[in-house]
Amino acid sequence: MNVIRGVDLIVDNLEFITKRILEWYKINKRDLPWRGESDPYKVWISEIILQQTRVAQGYEYYLRFIERFPNVNTLATAPLDDVLRLWQGLGYYTRARNIHKAANQIVNNFSGEFPRDYRNVISLSGVGAYTAAAICSLAFDKPHAVLDGNVYRVLSRIFAIKTPVDTTEGARIFNALADSLLDKKHPGEYNQAIMDFGALQCTPAAAKCDSCPLAEICQSYMQGNIYEYPVKLQKVKVKERYFNYILVRSGEYTFIKRREDKDIWRNLYEFPCLETVKSIDEHELIESDFFRNLFGKTEVEFMKISGIYKHVLTHRRIFARFYEVNIADVHYEITGFLKIKRSEIDRYAIPRLIEIYIEGQGI
Ligand code: ADE
Repeated sequence: MNVIRGVDLIVDNLEFITKRILEWYKINKRDLPWRGESDPYKVWISEIILQQTRVAQGYEYYLRFIERFPNVNTLATAPLDDVLRLWQGLGYYTRARNIHKAANQIVNNFSGEFPRDYRNVISLSGVGAYTAAAICSLAFDKPHAVLDGNVYRVLSRIFAIKTPVDTTEGARIFNALADSLLDKKHPGEYNQAIMDFGALQCTPAAAKCDSCPLAEICQSYMQGNIYEYPVKLQKVKVKERYFNYILVRSGEYTFIKRREDKDIWRNLYEFPCLETVKSIDEHELIESDFFRNLFGKTEVEFMKISGIYKHVLTHRRIFARFYEVNIADVHYEITGFLKIKRSEIDRYAIPRLIEIYIEGQGI
């Protein structure tokens, strides 16, 4: 019986659980390119990629990223556009901007040496509690327990914790519990073990309880309600946005613009876009001030109107439609837009959604 300090939680079997998770890991661990890596730079990049990307997808990106930017210095001195271009398709581009900024922080504030101290690590742009703990434990074997979605799920199920994970009280309980379970002698190994355990064994929708080495002490399993955990207070509110893109054909040219807004896809390039709060049709588009500002009195011929392309993010659902239009005047310019050869679009970092359209429909 253990009392978890500060949170009035009495739990059993802490050492047993740690041991079983480590044993499970020895047999089941995934063979990943960053496994066993002690270079903090590589651990950092892999963890940032894995934050919002599945391992299967992140794998190739990680290898390409490390090849192109093998260390902090090459990353810090590269233009942001190069980093964004390499990130293209991974989504959540704030990560790429933060990585670039943090590399510069390391060069300017830490003489190019990756910081080792938790407080310095967490001071880096885009590095939160999870990433800092992952870097300190995986690269430096420091005793910081990681808490990610996998760990919340595993712990809340084993101990049948009803306190919502997204509350202050929940944060205190799960932090204390994760700290108590951490193998202080092998923190890096243990942290990866519990994450893999969550990713492969104690999965969100099809947990393998029949073969689970913790089934005999798992409280939610005994209660028969493992899928009620983890408990969350807030359902994610999803906002819907409608992007109406105009792919202009003017001879061999088209028009693009860099997104500047404090918004998704900042710094990426896109076709002229009218955002609306609901779906619109061709007539509403033509009637809009946006359309009039783009083309004035120039004659515009509609060539193709696409179906809806859907892009789902944690808090947003984006519905995009592409209107391909032709304008005969090859000297046409649009204020505020870059006129480029369509064949050269791959020189620009563009959102995955647009890339998918181009891959399917051509440009
Ligand atoms: N998910 C994110 N980082 C991970 C890691 N280092 N091991 C397993 N799963 C992870």
